[in-house]
Amino acid sequence: MIEAKQLSKRFGDRLAVDQLSFSIERGEVVGFLGPNGAGKTTTMRMLTGFTPPSSGKVIVGGHDLFEEPAAARRLVGYLPETPPLYPEMTVAGYLRFVARIQGLPKRDCAEAVDRAMERCGLKEQRRRIIGDLSKGYRQRVGIAQAIVHSPPVLILDEPTVGLDPAQISDIRDLIADLSSAREGELQHAVILSTHILPEVEAICRRIIMIQEGTKRLDRPLDELKAEGQTLQMLFAREIVGEQVPSAGQGGAA
Ligand SMILES: Nc1ncnc2c1ncn2[C@@H]1O[C@H](COP(=O)(O)OP(=O)(O)OP(=O)(O)O)[C@@H](O)[C@H]1O
Ligand SMILES: [Mg+2]
Repeated sequence: MIEAKQLSKRFGDRLAVDQLSFSIERGEVVGFLGPNGAGKTTTMRMLTGFTPPSSGKVIVGGHDLFEEPAAARRLVGYLPETPPLYPEMTVAGYLRFVARIQGLPKRDCAEAVDRAMERCGLKEQRRRIIGDLSKGYRQRVGIAQAIVHSPPVLILDEPTVGLDPAQISDIRDLIADLSSAREGELQHAVILSTHILPEVEAICRRIIMIQEGTKRLDRPLDELKAEGQTLQMLFAREIVGEQVPSAGQGGAA
C-alpha cells in the first residue's frame, strides 16, 4: 500500500536517512523503532510528502508521491510529532475544516467527522475549544484529524507520548482496531514510531529498526517471539551494539 524506495535525506553534510526501503500492506501495523536522532521523524515526513527526499521515491497506492502528490497524499493520514491543531477552534469545527482540506465533498463531511470523533472517543468533546483540552484529548484530536478522510495508510509519530495509562490503552486499542477488518471499511496500513517497547509488543505485527538512517532489522514480531527474542534484547544488540546472545542459539548471533 505504501512503499519507500531507496529513500535518503541529507541535511547539509549530515545524512539523516540513508537508502531506506520497505513496503507496508493493508492490515499491517509496523513499529518503527530506533534511538533518538535515528531518522524516524524525517522518514515519516518524507512518506507523507512534508519533506522532499534528497533521493529515492515513495509510492502510495500505485501513485508516486512526487509525481502525483494530490492522488498519493489523499491516501495518507499523518499524526506529526507536534500535531498542527488550531487552539481556538472547536473539536468538530477543526475536524470539519481538515475534512474539507483533504478534499472530502461538503455533503460527506458531517458523517466523516462523526465517525472520526466516535473512533477516537471525542463525541463528548465535540463542542469544546481545542486549546482547553488536556494533552491526551488534544492527542486524540491529532489522531482524529489523521483518520477523518479514511485514508488507507496511517503514519503516526509517537502517538501515545504524554498520555496517561488509561488513554494509552485506549489509543492502542484504537490503532489495533484501525488495522483489523471491519465490515464495510477497509483495513489500514499503519506505521508508528515509539520508544515504548511494550507498546510495540502489544500492537505491532512487524518491526522496522533503524539507526543513523539505515535499516537494521525488518521482521515479523511473531517470528522474533518464536525465537525467544525480546525487543529489549534486539534493541541492545542491533542499536547499542551489545554482545547479546541470540535466544536458543547458545550465543551465536
Ligand atoms: N530540518 C532539519 N535540519 C537539519 N537537521 C535535521 C532536520 N531535521 C532533522 N534533522 C537531523 O536528522 C537526524 C534525524 O532526526 P529525526 O528527527 O528524524 O530523528 P528521530 O528518529 O525522529 O528521533 P527522536 O526519537 O528523537 O524523535 C537528526 O540528526 C536531526 O538532528
Ligand atoms: Mg522523532
